[in-house]
Amino acid sequence: MSNKAVFISGSSRGIGRSTALRFARAGYCLVITYQNSESEAEMVARESRQLGAPETLVLRLDVSSNESIMSAAKQTREKFGNIDILVNNAGIFKKQPLAEQPFSDISGQIAVNLEGPIKLTREFLPLIKKSVINVGSGIGFVGKKHAAAYAATKWGIRGFTKSLAAEMPNLRALAVHPGLTATSMGNAGGMAPEKVAEIIFNAAEGNYGIKNGSDIDVRYYAAGYAGKFLYLVKSYVKKFIS
Ligand SMILES: NC(=O)c1ccc[n+]([C@@H]2O[C@H](COP(=O)([O-])OP(=O)(O)OC[C@H]3O[C@@H](n4cnc5c(N)ncnc54)[C@H](OP(=O)(O)O)[C@@H]3O)[C@@H](O)[C@H]2O)c1
Repeated sequence: MSNKAVFISGSSRGIGRSTALRFARAGYCLVITYQNSESEAEMVARESRQLGAPETLVLRLDVSSNESIMSAAKQTREKFGNIDILVNNAGIFKKQPLAEQPFSDISGQIAVNLEGPIKLTREFLPLIKKSVINVGSGIGFVGKKHAAAYAATKWGIRGFTKSLAAEMPNLRALAVHPGLTATSMGNAGGMAPEKVAEIIFNAAEGNYGIKNGSDIDVRYYAAGYAGKFLYLVKSYVKKFIS
C-alpha cells in the first residue's frame, strides 16, 4: 500500500497516545496497541482518523508474550504490508526500594521494558522501512533510587539502540529519553506528553540530523535555544563538580 504506516506499542494512553495523534496529523496509517485499555485505544483510533490517519488498526498486544508479539506482526503485515516506523513505547515502572521489590516485579519490568522492545523489533524487522524509535528514560542516563530494575532496563534500551544501528545501517535507530512526563506513570506531573510525542515524531522523520544510534534527551531537545544553553551549562557544571 502507498500510505505511510507507523506501529506504536502502548498507544492507548500517555506518551504513546500523544505520539499516535501526532503521526495521525501527518497523514500516517496507524497500528494502535493496548494491553488492558481497549476502549481508550478505540478512542485513540477514532481521534486519529479525525486528524487525518487514512486507516487504523487496533490490536491487543502484551510485549511480554512471544505469541502476542508474533500475532501483532502477522496482523500488521496482513493489514498494511510494510510499515515505515516502529515506536517501542510500552513500558511499566514499579518504584520500590530494591530490598523490598518482589522478583516478579523485577522480571516484569525487564520483560516489558527491555525484552519486549528487542523481540518486537526482531519480529518486525522484515516489515520496517525507515525508523525504529525506542523510548527510554532520563533515568537511563543517571540512575535513581527506588528504580534499580527500571533504570537497568532503560540503560539497556540505549545499548540495544546503538547495536541495532550498527547492525542495520539502512534503518534509523534512535533512543528517545523523556524526563518526568504528565501521564499516569508520571503521576500526572512533568512535561506534557504532546511535547515528547513531537520529539519522537521528529526523530522518526530524521529531522535532527544526528548519528544513527544516538540518544535523544527530551529535556534538551524540548528546551528551545535559551533552554538548551542553560541545560548545557548545568550539565558541564554538574560534571565539573562530580
Ligand atoms: N511518564 C513518565 O514520566 C516517563 C518518563 C520517562 C520515560 N517514560 C517512558 O515512556 C513510555 C510511555 O510511558 P507513559 O508515561 O506514557 O506510560 P503510561 O501512561 O502508563 O502508558 C503505558 C502504555 O503501555 C501499555 N502497556 C503496559 N504494559 C504493557 C505490556 N505488557 N504490553 C504492551 N503494552 C503495555 C499500556 O497499555 P494499557 O493502558 O492498555 O494497559 C499503555 O498504553 C514508557 O516506556 C516509559 O518508561 C515515561
